[in-house]
Amino acid sequence: MNERYAKITGWGKYVPARVLTNHELAQMVDTSDEWITTRTGIKERRIRTEDDTTSSMAVAAAREAMSVAGLSPKDLDLIIVATSSPDYLLPSVASQVQDMLGAECGAFTLVAGCSGWVYALTTASHYITAGAYSRVLVVGVEIISFAMDFTDRTTCVLFGDAAAATVVEASDEPGGLLAFELGSDGSGVKALYVPDGGSASPISQRTIDERRQYMRMNGQEVFKFAVRTLGSSLKRTIYQAGLTPDDIDLFIPHQANARIIEAAARQMRVPLDKFYLNLDRYGNTSAASVPLALVEAIEEGRLKDGDLVAMCAFGAGLTWATAVMQIGTGEISPAHSLFSVGRARYLARRTSDAVLDTAQSALLPLYTFLYQRRKKR
Ligand code: ACO
Repeated sequence: MNERYAKITGWGKYVPARVLTNHELAQMVDTSDEWITTRTGIKERRIRTEDDTTSSMAVAAAREAMSVAGLSPKDLDLIIVATSSPDYLLPSVASQVQDMLGAECGAFTLVAGCSGWVYALTTASHYITAGAYSRVLVVGVEIISFAMDFTDRTTCVLFGDAAAATVVEASDEPGGLLAFELGSDGSGVKALYVPDGGSASPISQRTIDERRQYMRMNGQEVFKFAVRTLGSSLKRTIYQAGLTPDDIDLFIPHQANARIIEAAARQMRVPLDKFYLNLDRYGNTSAASVPLALVEAIEEGRLKDGDLVAMCAFGAGLTWATAVMQIGTGEISPAHSLFSVGRARYLARRTSDAVLDTAQSALLPLYTFLYQRRKKR
């Protein structure tokens, strides 16, 4: 049997029409455009209108992606919808999407916080490379505003609603998913969670009185986890693909906070302009964040046939997920032949990164101490 590869052949997005700016938020909670912009990079985000549901937004993005791929819903073998904000707790929103599209295939929802779409992309790719399926629709969608407490300035300024979809198809030409890493550290469950509404703590009068149906977040803990994870997981996965960070044409990080992305770029010694950013317009759209950035990067011509892209998301769980892909077709040579200049360059960069990582970890307690002292002054 020929080797099978899994490639993205279609992409689409849907964002609600309602724009919520930092200035409007400053009328609602004790914050300012200046604070939000300097601490996060976010200027505005989209919030669902009364016509938008998670399923309707997913379907709008999916239709666009299928049109780009030249497929009809009946061509699909599987639908995976990544979300933490389904229409209902039961049934799975993926079944609603399957029905609304008129597809005739299996469908399931994948929950992994903001990392959900990258988890789903790797899942779809493996169904394809294993030969089980040939065409999988992978959606990242979120009406995360439903879980926002619009009296809590520490969370409500960060998030927004959006949907993005991709079609992943089998191909016998090399490319597609080259390497991936999935991670979970459930000891951080309460760093970012919705206390009530699940089976552990069903909705009650106390829920309403104490606003426990809304997201609670330890921002600093998530921030530290994200800075630790983003650059290091990207590097591990890029090296696993036999590449170095210099080989990557575009990085698509989770759009949570520009400062987290800047720290990762510094850590990886990669210029910031190689990182795609659209969080100024959308904020953190959770499971829709990475695919929305990917779709916009393709639409803007930032990614072309044969380009190498490294995507990394992190979020509730705590979870993270990284995927290195080649868009379209092309030759990938760098580290693969045993005695090449590419191989030597790869080994040199990998070794110097390992040395720097060790030095950075050793110095981390000192940096934290100095930062806390500066903050106290
Ligand atoms: N406006 C004004 N002041 C604010 C706001 C706000 N919106 N939010 C917090 N502050 C205040 C705090 O109360 C605090 O005041 P104090 O010093 O008087 O106590 C001060 O600003 C500094 O607060 P910090 O928490 O130290 O601010 P920090 O620089 O860490 O930025 C932020 C906070 C933006 C939340 C940051 O920690 C962050 O981005 N964390 C990561 C969050 C994240 O990415 N979450 C999503 C994960 S993905 C998912 O799965 C959903």
